[in-house]
Amino acid sequence: MDLKLNDRVVFITGSGSGLGRKFALDFAAEGARVAVNDVNAAGIAQTVDLVKQAGGKAMPAPCDITRLEAIAEMVRKVEAEYGRIDILVNNAAVLLAHALFLETSPEDCDREIKVILYGTLNCARALLPGMIERQYGKIVNIVTDAARAGQEREVNYSSAKGGVISFTKSIAREVGRHNINVNAVSPAATNSPMRLEGLRQLKEKIGEQKLLEREEKIRRAYPMRRIGEPEDVSHAVLFLASDLARHVTGQVLSVNGGYAMLG
Ligand SMILES: NC(=O)c1ccc[n+]([C@@H]2O[C@H](COP(=O)([O-])OP(=O)(O)OC[C@H]3O[C@@H](n4cnc5c(N)ncnc54)[C@H](O)[C@@H]3O)[C@@H](O)[C@H]2O)c1
Repeated sequence: MDLKLNDRVVFITGSGSGLGRKFALDFAAEGARVAVNDVNAAGIAQTVDLVKQAGGKAMPAPCDITRLEAIAEMVRKVEAEYGRIDILVNNAAVLLAHALFLETSPEDCDREIKVILYGTLNCARALLPGMIERQYGKIVNIVTDAARAGQEREVNYSSAKGGVISFTKSIAREVGRHNINVNAVSPAATNSPMRLEGLRQLKEKIGEQKLLEREEKIRRAYPMRRIGEPEDVSHAVLFLASDLARHVTGQVLSVNGGYAMLG
């Protein structure tokens, strides 16, 4: 099935690694031109190289999404190079501590909310005027089932993501009349480099046997009996960013192997 993403321009935050990089590669494989945003310059360069090596088109779009003026400047650069931005994928996030709420610091909480919630709002604020002018746009926000179902030891992170879910629904109501769709994709545990690094650290703390038991317990909580892979999430993102989903807006699609079944 042709997603008709050929020549579309997509701005992907946090695509210097992990899931964002996978989205960049998959959009480019569909013929889209990708603006690779991140704060990690080396990660951006690697993603741009990988896209180009695969025969796709990508440009670096470095900036900190907590800084509205920096995003606005970057948007102007991308529009000067690629002519417009059709699709925004709000993917960048930080999860600073796997700890009980009262053991986390207000500073970490502040940073998580700034990157996840303000970052998403800032990017929408910078990109929506152009989308409204052109009467075309797609925004896909990456949230998490930790926010939809609740998750101990991720309270700050899931609170910020919960804000993004509310933003998705409210802004979708405002901009639908301009032919702009806004949706969210909500992964549960997914084998991104971030998760694999977390597992490596946990293994050092609790040992290999306990880690294996923990992973098995997690798998059993998933009806599909597996942890998600980056492509599972990417397929949902590409669908929602395409015109195949033109009548879908304000929705949150969990990609979670059935971990939580939310109405
Ligand atoms: N991996 C999982 O299991 C999982 C589960 C549910 C949801 N998610 C969500 O998926 C998305 C991607 O996660 P990932 O696992 O690939 O993580 P990741 O840490 O590999 O990627 C996040 C990227 O965001 C970038 N970033 C951080 N702060 C930024 C800022 N201020 N401006 C621009 N970029 C910034 C980081 O440099 C990094 O490259 C996140 O929104 C995450 O919350 C992941």
